[in-house]
Amino acid sequence: MTNKSQNIRSVIIGYGGYLPERIVTNEELTTMVDTSHDWIVERTGIHQRHFAADDQVTSDLAVNAAKIALENAGIKAEDLDLIIVGTATPDKTFPSTATRVQEKIGNTTGFAFDVAAVCAGFLVAVSVADQFIQSGQVKNALVIGAEMPSRIIDMNDRRTCVLFGDGAGAWILQGQKSERTPEERGVIDTKIYSDGRFCDILHTDGGPSSTGKVGQIQMEGREVFRHAVEKLADAAENILKKNGLTSADIDWFIPHQANSRIIEAVAKRLAFPQEKIIQTVYKHANTSAASIPLAFYEAVTEGRVKKGDLILHEAIGGGLVWGSALVRF
Ligand code: ACO
Repeated sequence: MTNKSQNIRSVIIGYGGYLPERIVTNEELTTMVDTSHDWIVERTGIHQRHFAADDQVTSDLAVNAAKIALENAGIKAEDLDLIIVGTATPDKTFPSTATRVQEKIGNTTGFAFDVAAVCAGFLVAVSVADQFIQSGQVKNALVIGAEMPSRIIDMNDRRTCVLFGDGAGAWILQGQKSERTPEERGVIDTKIYSDGRFCDILHTDGGPSSTGKVGQIQMEGREVFRHAVEKLADAAENILKKNGLTSADIDWFIPHQANSRIIEAVAKRLAFPQEKIIQTVYKHANTSAASIPLAFYEAVTEGRVKKGDLILHEAIGGGLVWGSALVRF
C-alpha cells in the first residue's frame, strides 16, 4: 500500500437509485395505526413512503441502484475494486450484504464489506471508500446505502412506524489525478463523529447476541430531534470552516432525509435559502442510509444538480453517528 497520495481525488462517475414499487400513503397508515395525514405532515413533512415486496431483500434494492450507477459510469462490475454497503437492515446477520451484492452483480476481483452506521451509513461508507482511493489501494469503489426499515418497525407504534421507508442509492467513486483544489471535481472532505453515550436514544430492542432476534426500532423522538439539529449544524459549519468556505459557496445542500423540520432547522442555522435544499423526505420518508444517494440521484436525474456543482451533505443516525461531506460533482 502506498502512502496517502496528495494528487488523487475520489470523483463521482456513476450514481443510481431504486425505490420499491409499493407506495404506502399516510392515508393507508391511518388504517393500521392511530394517526392522521395532517399530524404526520405537520411533524415530519412526510406524505408517503415505499415498502419493499415480501420477496425482496436489501441486497436486491442495492443491486438495482448499483446497476444504474454502473451503467451511467460506463464501467463493468469487474472493474470495481471495492464495494461498501451502508445498511442497518442486512439480508442476514452474516455474511455482509455487500458480499451478496458482489455476487449478484458478478464481481470477483474486488473486496466487499458493510458499514453499520444506520442513517449515517452512506456518509461513513463514502468517507471509508475515499480513504482507500486516496491511499492508492482502490481505483473504483461502489458505495451503496440500502435499507428496509419496514422490516424492523413496529406497525403498532405510531411514534416510529410513520417515519420510515425502504430504498437504495449508489455512487461509483473513481480515483482520478487531481491537484485537490476546491474547484476540481470529487470528494473534497469528509468528517465523521460518534458518541456512544447516546446509544439508547435510537436503537433496536434486539440483536444476534442479546435476544437472538432482530428487534424493532425504539426511539426517543424529541431527544433525537434535538441532537440532530445541533450536531448536524455543527458538523456542517466545521467542514465549511475547515475548507475556507461559507454556505454562500455551496450550490446544493443535500442532507439526510429524516424529517423536513430537522432539515429546515439546520438549513436556517447555516443560512441556506430554500432553493438550494434538495428535499425528498416528503415522498421517500426516512430511508436511512439510502436517503442521501437517493436524493442525489433524483436531483441529478431531474437536471437540478449538475456536474461541477459544489454540494454539502450531512447525516446523523443511531449511535449516535453523524458527519458531513463536501463534494464537487
Ligand atoms: N400520529 C399522531 N399522534 C402521534 C404520532 C402519530 N404518528 N406519534 C406521536 N403522536 C403523539 C404522541 O403520542 C403525543 O401525544 P400525547 O401528547 O397525547 O402524549 C404527541 O403526538 C406528541 O408526541 P411527541 O413525540 O412529543 O411529538 P414530537 O413533536 O416530538 O414529534 C417526532 C415526534 C416527529 C418523532 C419528532 O420527535 C421527530 O421528528 N424526532 C426526530 C426523529 C427522527 O427523525 N428519527 C429518525 C431516525 S434518526 C435520524 O434519521 C435523524
